Amino acid sequence: MTQKNLGGATVTVIGAGIMGVGIAQVAAQAGHAVRLYDAREGAAADAKKKLAATLDGLAAKGKLAPEAAQATLARIEPIGALGEAQGSALVVEAIVENLSVKRTLLMELEAIVDADCVLATNTSSISVTALANGLTRPQRLVGMHFFNPVPLMKLVEVVSGLHTEAAVADAIFELSKAWGKVPVHTRSTPGFIVNRIARPYYAETLALLLERAAEPQVLDACLKAAGFRMGPCELMDLIGHDTNFAVTHSVYEANFFDKRYAPSLVQRELVDGGLLGRKSGRGFYRYPEGVPALPVAVHEAPATAREITVHGDGPIADWLEQAATAALAAQGWGPARERGSAWTGLAIDAARLVLTDGRPAHELARALGTHEVAVFDRPVVLPVAAGSALAYAVHDGASEGWRTQAAAWLAALGVTPLPLADVPGLVVARTVAMLVNEAADAVLQGVCMAEGADAAMKLGVNYPAGPFEWLARWSVAGVAGVIAALDTTYRGERYRVSPWLQRRAA
Ligand code: NAI
Repeated sequence: MTQKNLGGATVTVIGAGIMGVGIAQVAAQAGHAVRLYDAREGAAADAKKKLAATLDGLAAKGKLAPEAAQATLARIEPIGALGEAQGSALVVEAIVENLSVKRTLLMELEAIVDADCVLATNTSSISVTALANGLTRPQRLVGMHFFNPVPLMKLVEVVSGLHTEAAVADAIFELSKAWGKVPVHTRSTPGFIVNRIARPYYAETLALLLERAAEPQVLDACLKAAGFRMGPCELMDLIGHDTNFAVTHSVYEANFFDKRYAPSLVQRELVDGGLLGRKSGRGFYRYPEGVPALPVAVHEAPATAREITVHGDGPIADWLEQAATAALAAQGWGPARERGSAWTGLAIDAARLVLTDGRPAHELARALGTHEVAVFDRPVVLPVAAGSALAYAVHDGASEGWRTQAAAWLAALGVTPLPLADVPGLVVARTVAMLVNEAADAVLQGVCMAEGADAAMKLGVNYPAGPFEWLARWSVAGVAGVIAALDTTYRGERYRVSPWLQRRAA
């Protein structure tokens, strides 16, 4: 096959479930004649009726011109037999997520469609290479992975297996753009881009919950302050723990049980107990109540100090200097600054309030030669919004006085301090570092380009920034340092610094 153009093509969508109907709608809205088939009799016609009601609703609200709604519907033709896919230039399958069922369907289709018809699969977890195995023309199969809800989510992962011809992937890439989507090329590897890179967002929180570092609502609050629309616990409750556990398990298994992707006992217990999240009325939280409010803590004012110095360079140290200056203004003095310091944070007389570099407070206490140490999480959104949640941990060997003062100082700097057990990398630093690391490995392995990873995470799961954007605002050494510190504490295979980062750190 040489260059292909699927503009104006007749498209057949197989599977009239949530995804199939969405794909049919998007294709029809872009002007394609669409045939819709489902193995369950009447399902395609029913789906069209439901879609008609949805489009009417949108037209009634003024969100869609009534003529456009009518034209879209008129282009969708439910078909009662697979044979009616004949003559299509593109067939997209969105049937049940099962390798042998999908493979059987694709083989049946080959006997029906023309030799140059492109076959696309919306699979979210099955290898495109494996699906192509056994086809007469395996080079025409490509992954076209949409996100739910299809009409609203912009991302399409265009997945190439070993057999997929580049011209086929390119044609689907161009077609996705014509459908108003943002396509990203990826190789057929477990989880593709989004479902792979997103693993640590859940995994790190589950690891923190396993060791009882904090309550779910505390972890959620910290990550929401970092710009994520939903915290990992409320998000897992929404997705459903059964689904999230299954995806995690499939990525784990597909990676030959690499411990980095190991599912969590915390989640398995929820699944075993039928506490599946929103849909079952209880997961981490109870529904309809949802995430409980954090207890309101009243912090005393910081005690008068003799000497205050802001240590470190860069935007977080600059923020600290500004915030400390504002906090001390009423007393008529400001902090000193020591830019060349090995750590970032505040020296308040003999006590140290340190920005996490991954090391827990007890290790920092040893390194800095004092027990009066507290460590705070990395603010990834600058300038730091007033009152935003920020995790911190105090060294277990610190005095009660410093424990209270550490929180008092953070509150005086304008954040809402949320206490955690003394864990390495706290919440945001640890999670973001692991997301960046996973993305770095994906790029190293040729799964996608850095820009593709950024676009995929922002558009596929609404991340506030892409992993490589976070990296640009942080530093390779900083990210690698946090992961190395996690490895020092936990040992094992989980916290391995990606060779992509190692090369750049050197
Ligand atoms: P669904 O269960 O809503 O719909 C599947 C439809 O396929 C059903 O109507 C079923 O009757 C039909 N079907 C099953 N076997 C068939 C066959 N052999 N021939 C024709 N029709 C058949 O499932 P959903 O959620 O729409 O998922 C479909 C595919 O999309 C799966 O591969 C899934 O992994 C993938 N996907 C799902 C996402 C989601 O959030 N639900 C997101 C991205 C991909």
